[in-house]
Amino acid sequence: MHSGTEISLEQCKGEEYRAIFQKVYRIVSLQFSNPDLRGIKGFIFAGETGVGKTLMAKMVARELSVPLLFVDSATIARKHFGESEQLISKLFEESQHNKAVLLFDDVEALFLDRTKEASEGWNTGMNNVLFHQLDNLDTSKCAVIMTTNLITFLDKALQDRLYPIQFPLPSLQTLIAIAQMRCNDLKIGSEGVEQTIRAAPESFRSIRAVEKLVFEDYINQIEVLASRQGSNVVLV
Ligand SMILES: Nc1ncnc2c1ncn2[C@@H]1O[C@H](COP(=O)(O)OP(=O)(O)O)[C@@H](O)[C@H]1O
Ligand SMILES: [Mg+2]
Repeated sequence: MHSGTEISLEQCKGEEYRAIFQKVYRIVSLQFSNPDLRGIKGFIFAGETGVGKTLMAKMVARELSVPLLFVDSATIARKHFGESEQLISKLFEESQHNKAVLLFDDVEALFLDRTKEASEGWNTGMNNVLFHQLDNLDTSKCAVIMTTNLITFLDKALQDRLYPIQFPLPSLQTLIAIAQMRCNDLKIGSEGVEQTIRAAPESFRSIRAVEKLVFEDYINQIEVLASRQGSNVVLV
């Protein structure tokens, strides 16, 4: 399977996703090359799991030729009181030295709405640090991208500071294009997979679901090949 870093823009299928890329890339590259333009601190990529939010952030950084500083929100959320705030401040500082895209992935784990009971305490500290950093961000050096599948859980103040982009579910055309690309990568025929998708497109609500289907088909085809060649492994 592809890891995100291997993917190039050509492998980004679907007009719906390419349009998002163009929009984000244009804004960030303009702001990076023009310090007077400081309209947008960053983006919230919202949408269901497996629709390409994380990949999009990686592609934007890659096409801008700047490093992607990656924050796994679940890891930070497990840190002790104070530690996570320090880590976030450090990352922002780092991103201000050189140009960078700062990605907070699956951010709902971190910044739950301050009015909600569960987010009392250290979460408030986290939000305050983040707002401070965002308000002082040099947008000619850093763009912040947060991804989430639960945008309504995010603090309103955060939603006000970042530009939200909704990632749609992939169209049937996009699902098929991705299936063909993945089958091609694995050197297997795509007819069976395409048929399965066309028969029930509503059951493929993410790109990841298509990748899983392709992978299963790959394993099936390998098994058929192996048994034909009599080289199937006997488990004892
Ligand atoms: N536009 C696209 N074209 C082809 N493959 C894609 C596209 N967007 C995402 N993918 C692939 O789909 C899978 C899920 O993408 P990911 O970015 O992890 O989704 P999310 O972050 O929304 O859960 C990954 O394997 C990724 O490489
Ligand atoms: Mg993701």
